[in-house]
Amino acid sequence: MLTNSFAVSRSVCMMEQSEPVPQPVAEWPGAYVGKTLQYKLPFFLDTSKLMNPHVSLIGMTGSGKTYFMKSYLIRCRLGRDASILIIDWNNEYNEIVTMLDGTIHRLCSTAETASLDFNLLCNGVHSINLASMHNDIDRRDAATAIIHSVTEFMHGMKIGNSGNRIIVLDEAWKLLNDKAALTQLFREGRKYGIGVMVATQLVKDINNEILSNTACVAVFRIQNSDDSNALLETGIVDNEGIDSLTTLPVGRCLLHLVPKTTSQKTKFAIARIEGIQTTVYTIKSDRMQMKVSGEKFIWATESLIKEHDKRAKIVNMIEANERELDSVGFIRFLLRLGLDRSIIVPYLRLLGLTDRAIADSFNSAKGAMVEIE
Ligand SMILES: Nc1ncnc2c1ncn2[C@@H]1O[C@H](COP(=O)(O)OP(=O)(O)O)[C@@H](O)[C@H]1O
Ligand SMILES: [Mg+2]
Repeated sequence: MLTNSFAVSRSVCMMEQSEPVPQPVAEWPGAYVGKTLQYKLPFFLDTSKLMNPHVSLIGMTGSGKTYFMKSYLIRCRLGRDASILIIDWNNEYNEIVTMLDGTIHRLCSTAETASLDFNLLCNGVHSINLASMHNDIDRRDAATAIIHSVTEFMHGMKIGNSGNRIIVLDEAWKLLNDKAALTQLFREGRKYGIGVMVATQLVKDINNEILSNTACVAVFRIQNSDDSNALLETGIVDNEGIDSLTTLPVGRCLLHLVPKTTSQKTKFAIARIEGIQTTVYTIKSDRMQMKVSGEKFIWATESLIKEHDKRAKIVNMIEANERELDSVGFIRFLLRLGLDRSIIVPYLRLLGLTDRAIADSFNSAKGAMVEIE
């Protein structure tokens, strides 16, 4: 069955691809990621089969990096008992740390990093939560101190340690002021069984040494063609993949893998990361307050808003509002994007608003628009 459908999809293949060939279930290793775009084969990521254990995720805000990160971490912990240390800037990882029975360490000042015990933090599941710190400069200093301490801890370990540890730096561009420390972690981590996982928005945030020491790079939607061209120069994406990068839907990515046993690099697309949803959005109106899962929000947005740039603006806006919207402000935002009532009404219905709440919010939104204009 699988062989037949593989043969069929191969015969209609328009582009040279290097997806892995189908294998018996027993040989699928690693953490499940999603299905490949072309042959719809389940893909499992096992970094122990790659040149090094590091993973870099690149893509614009709202493209699906954190979702991948969280789903992958949950599966690495449950399936392979990995130890995980997360540097959490924005309170984004509390749910998964709790879900994995880990510990959240909340820091209020940079000085508190001195009292952290990295023998404890580098075993089991921990997050160092920087959200309560004063400002981004303090967070960056704390993150830099943490990376130095992890490096020190690493140097205290025996080389060849077959540890299974993951250090997570989401929004890594915010802390790349000390590139040397991070680069060292990428360069030496493999020897000590420490994998670094970073997510960032622009390829230029990650230096070439980090990229060349990353055996798994996932590229999500990229903002514009300048960023795509920067990726082309690194060789992570080639000419065939480049055009699609600015229009990838949320959760779709191009993977670039460097296997351990062959120098042959593998590049293919994952149709959609199939993960575990932990994001919730809140939409408030005079009449009701609704919670919408991130998955439902993305599904409704992709079903009704056809233009990629408008979808991205919607996701950016709701993320910037800390995942809380009032329905009147939301409608005004959608009208300003150039969407009209015939799209907005079914969109809000799909999100779960009642017709009554939609009608009232529309009237207030129109009123507010007129006042402003
Ligand atoms: N593969 C996916 N399937 C379903 N929902 C997704 C997927 N990827 C992302 N999302 C949702 O899209 C929104 C933005 O994703 P996120 O991972 O936070 O983006 P980023 O970290 O790149 O800014 C979130 O609500 C998230 O739950
Ligand atoms: Mg994110």
